[in-house]
Amino acid sequence: MEFRAYKPVEAAVIQDLFVSVFSKSEGEQEGVLIGNLVDELVAGTGSQDLHGFVAVDGKKIVGAIFFSRLSFEQDVDVFILAPVAVHSDHQGMGIGQALINHGLQEMKKCGVRFVTTYGAPSFYTKVGFHPISQHMIAAPLELSQPEGWLGQSLADDPIETIPGKCKCVKALNNPVYW
Ligand SMILES: CC(C)(COP(=O)(O)OP(=O)(O)OC[C@H]1O[C@@H](n2cnc3c(N)ncnc32)[C@H](O)[C@@H]1OP(=O)(O)O)[C@@H](O)C(=O)NCCC(=O)NCCS
Repeated sequence: MEFRAYKPVEAAVIQDLFVSVFSKSEGEQEGVLIGNLVDELVAGTGSQDLHGFVAVDGKKIVGAIFFSRLSFEQDVDVFILAPVAVHSDHQGMGIGQALINHGLQEMKKCGVRFVTTYGAPSFYTKVGFHPISQHMIAAPLELSQPEGWLGQSLADDPIETIPGKCKCVKALNNPVYW
């Protein structure tokens, strides 16, 4: 299994992966929604604000993750991990955790100081995330499930609190995802 940065020419294949995985796990409507999110993320986000990574088995992309920038009043490199998908036939084999760990290492190399995510704590705590409060780090939009707001510091001098309001990239700036 190879873990590497995604290539823009792979965007359509990655979008299909998200549609198929989320249709199967959450229903067809969710599949279309997350597929659109991936399309908008890739097409509408500057390269400084988006990092994507894939897990490749042979020649087939079996997993994909994206990190996009969160902006605060102070200048600090913070990204959010979302969305994440592993092909339905390859789940439960450690690929999701290995891909996320690879992505986190690469983000750290790029100087990213903190990564948040919004999802199932029981899964994301396996890859270093812990629940964070909105007083410590604000979410960009109102959360329907505040217990899913998670984060981890990548810095050698860990930061746990970032004051002020938070803005996400345009693709994520839609209450439907939060
Ligand atoms: C969630 C997902 C990315 C995990 O990838 P994976 O390769 O299947 O996961 P791994 O094999 O690395 O890890 C498996 C562990 O994660 C747990 N896990 C998997 N999906 C989970 C979920 N949705 N919620 C909570 N725990 C989950 C498994 O129970 C397993 O735990 P165990 O090792 O204690 O038995 C993948 O299953 C997936 O794409 N699911 C559908 C899309 C999705 O729900 N994405 C967002 C998740 S918030």
